[in-house]
Amino acid sequence: MSKVAVSVSALAALLSLAYYLLEVKGYKKNVRRALTSGDEGGKRGHTHKKGTIRPVARQQQKGYTKEDLAQYDGVQNPQILISLKRKVYEVDPHFYGPGQHYHCFAGREASRPLAKSQLNDAEANKYWVDCTDEELETLDEYVELFDSKYPVVGWFIPSEDFFNVGK
Ligand code: HEM
Repeated sequence: MSKVAVSVSALAALLSLAYYLLEVKGYKKNVRRALTSGDEGGKRGHTHKKGTIRPVARQQQKGYTKEDLAQYDGVQNPQILISLKRKVYEVDPHFYGPGQHYHCFAGREASRPLAKSQLNDAEANKYWVDCTDEELETLDEYVELFDSKYPVVGWFIPSEDFFNVGK
């Protein structure tokens, strides 16, 4: 082999090694970081880590009926879930745990009571379709708040009585 050929193949070997170290090792490190930090793929833009309860990267999202959701009221299960506009969030026991201010919303589809600023669950688990524009704005502010601080763990599955409103 000529001297040129030797130095070209040495250079190629060096470049492949550098590529391996940069791409493969670096890639693995990023994947590992994503798996251990609760980074949920598409949600990388979120910087409001402060209110996050715990990482849920490996928690499978699933559907919850009102009966399923009711299990997560902080009494039967320490994990507390609340649905807003049918998106189920894992929320902070400091606000929603037993004896706390907003416990009445724990384990509920709470769109209607929050839209109407009612501190009880009389309107829970019901569709918000007939709410006023002002109530819908209030509801959207809560959705924005929840999106900024709480992990989403699934979706609410309505039963038929969910739609029996405004009649
Ligand atoms: C006198 C009336 C009220 C006062 C003084 C009050 C006060 C507060 C305070 C201090 C916070 C915590 C803010 C923070 O640290 O992030 C909060 C959050 C909240 N409030 Fe109220 N509130 C009142 C009425 C209501 C009513 C009527 C509702 C709904 C029916 C409501 C629902 C909420 C919810 C859902 C949160 C968010 C908790 C979270 O971050 O998960 N509040 N309120």
